[in-house]
Amino acid sequence: MIYRERTHCGQLSNADENREIRLAGWVDAFRDHGEVLFIHLRDRSGVVQVVFSPDASPADVCEKAGQLRNEYCVAVTGRVFRRSHGTENPNIETGGIEVVATELSVLSKADTLPFPISEKAMVVGATVKGVESVAEDLRLQYRYLDLRRPSMQHNFMQRHRIFRCVRDYLDECGFIEVETPILTKSTPEGARDYLVPSRIHEKQFYALPQSPQLFKQLLMVSGFERYYQLARCFRDEDLRPNRQPEFTQLDIETSFIDEEFMYTLLEELTVRMFRIGGVELPRPFLRMTYGESIDTTGSDRPDLRFGLRFIDATDVFCGTSYGIFRQILQRGGCIKGINVKGQSEKLSKNVLQNEYAKQIVLGFGAKGMTWMRVIDGTLESNIVQFFSRKEQQGILERFDAENGDVIIMIADPSYEIVTSALGLLRLHLAERLDLIPRASYSPVWITDFPLFEATEEGITSSHHPFTAPDRTDFDPDNRDDLLALHSRAYDLVVNGEELGGGSIRINSKDVQRRIFQALGLSEREVEEKFGFFIRAFDYGIPPHGGLALGMDRVVSMILGTSSIREVIAFPKNRSAFCPLTQAPSRVAQEQLAELSLLDLGGSEKLLPGSEQEDNPVDALSWVSRIAVDDSERSHIEKAVDDARRLAEIVNDCRGSDEPLFSVVSVVNRTRTEPRARRSSFAENGELFRNAPSVKGDFFKVASILE
Ligand code: AMO
Repeated sequence: MIYRERTHCGQLSNADENREIRLAGWVDAFRDHGEVLFIHLRDRSGVVQVVFSPDASPADVCEKAGQLRNEYCVAVTGRVFRRSHGTENPNIETGGIEVVATELSVLSKADTLPFPISEKAMVVGATVKGVESVAEDLRLQYRYLDLRRPSMQHNFMQRHRIFRCVRDYLDECGFIEVETPILTKSTPEGARDYLVPSRIHEKQFYALPQSPQLFKQLLMVSGFERYYQLARCFRDEDLRPNRQPEFTQLDIETSFIDEEFMYTLLEELTVRMFRIGGVELPRPFLRMTYGESIDTTGSDRPDLRFGLRFIDATDVFCGTSYGIFRQILQRGGCIKGINVKGQSEKLSKNVLQNEYAKQIVLGFGAKGMTWMRVIDGTLESNIVQFFSRKEQQGILERFDAENGDVIIMIADPSYEIVTSALGLLRLHLAERLDLIPRASYSPVWITDFPLFEATEEGITSSHHPFTAPDRTDFDPDNRDDLLALHSRAYDLVVNGEELGGGSIRINSKDVQRRIFQALGLSEREVEEKFGFFIRAFDYGIPPHGGLALGMDRVVSMILGTSSIREVIAFPKNRSAFCPLTQAPSRVAQEQLAELSLLDLGGSEKLLPGSEQEDNPVDALSWVSRIAVDDSERSHIEKAVDDARRLAEIVNDCRGSDEPLFSVVSVVNRTRTEPRARRSSFAENGELFRNAPSVKGDFFKVASILE
């Protein structure tokens, strides 16, 4: 076959009637009608029916066709015919015609498949079993087959078109694409780094970039003015359906601009990208400050496709005699609620009290929930009698309540608990009551984030430490002052998903140093981590800012896929593992030796120091990170001694060929003396005093088992 003369299956139409053509592809499906055999031949462009009939195809071709099986790779020569009336197949684009084969070559055979690939039924009205019930790991293990499925091919065609649209648009706007290093130094985006050992520089490591942040800012110092890159980023963080350890960002940075430039640029680009998937986004994109977003939806990535916005009712209850509310308000708390319009039939007393108040909201972190249904113009609930007439009237007015509405309120001394629990409840109710219009899109810019967030250890950047604060007169040693700062950062959120984020950057060395100081970084640490970057501030750094869009999330949202794994050719599974290549995997000792890694790592550090080494109980206590009380020493010493003697017996037995069943007689033992009691260390919290660090209710211990 001359491949140059090949026609693509999906491009055939009624207009090709009578043409002699050559096709190549895979056997998508076949139907054997005794003498006549039909196959669906599939290539990247689509599917067409090929007929092998003794009337029109040579005998040897018919015989060969009888051997065909699913996914054989074949070449076919034949002539295009219109299908007779009533035999057209609406399941495929080319369903009005078929190709009668005159030649057939089997280019390669296929084994039995691990899961079905065909998505197009050969018969009118028939359905094809999809891969929905196939375990995702199996699909990923045979990803090359999974990617043969027309729906997956469609995803990647669309991904390609979206990426091309990005390049075309940014090119139109004067941006140039520059690649930045993959083997680099740690970039601070808040996740853990993937490290790559260097062979040449013994025991030294590169880090894979969490984003090209520092390089793109340096490109602004270089005067490129408008940079972009479709950049691969690497982050070692806990996975979710919209997170991968390795993902693609559209990374942008520009000089001599402000926030408005970024909003305009990104709005146009996002609209163009969504248009490729047939989605027309509403314009202009909404804007909401972080504060407003938390206050009305409990989230900094609000889903605005539906209502259920929070209404503050704190003042309605300022003089209440209802004990729970009164105590909460006395402690400086707040009361917020939502009006679930017209849903009193679906939200019965039983559902509200027994499901939501007693269970669901507790899982969301709230200590309770108050509900009221509006029936015949009055409020009905298990506690309505505790509210005065004035308060009841106040509720009806504040929530603009009408018959059939359900008002749900959460009160707590903590504003964070009220907003986050009500935010989760808002999403839960919207799903349950089917309030989310699936085919709608609500883009919104979230702005005015706090510059810093409080942590147990101190403070951390909400975005990254290069984001410009809203004012520069802050005191880096004053925690309250720092936590009151806002940033010039912005996130693009669509339907409750953060598609991208960026900021106007700091372009003053003094401000950048004070931010590092505020983050608790010493001069030495700053020099070690960012010295190369800070030095560039001395050479005429322009005002600049940028943003990165998570392209896997963008494509996944445009195509409406269930996770970003559906738009990444070879993704990792939910445990950051690749079932296809089995990565990550162990490496040979020789390779580790070559990289000088054999004697690195925790094992050295796990050996007890000399004070502990001499005494087996101390050594055990050290390695297990469990403190031993003096009164417990004698028992533990005896247990260690017993264990050692047992080990010696086992060792002695090893020499013989006798199978080893049990080296000591087995008896049931009940501890009599001394009576079991809790160690005093367990009482006073010192039990884990050797643990390297404690976080909340957890403590970290070194890993001692491989
Ligand atoms: P940020 O960390 O917000 O900003 O990342 C930008 C966007 O990248 C996407 N994203 C991810 N997508 C898939 N898997 C992940 N693990 C993952 N992590 C992030 C999100 C996110 O909005 N350097 C800054 C940008 C800047 O300031 O210009 C940055 O990386 O869609």
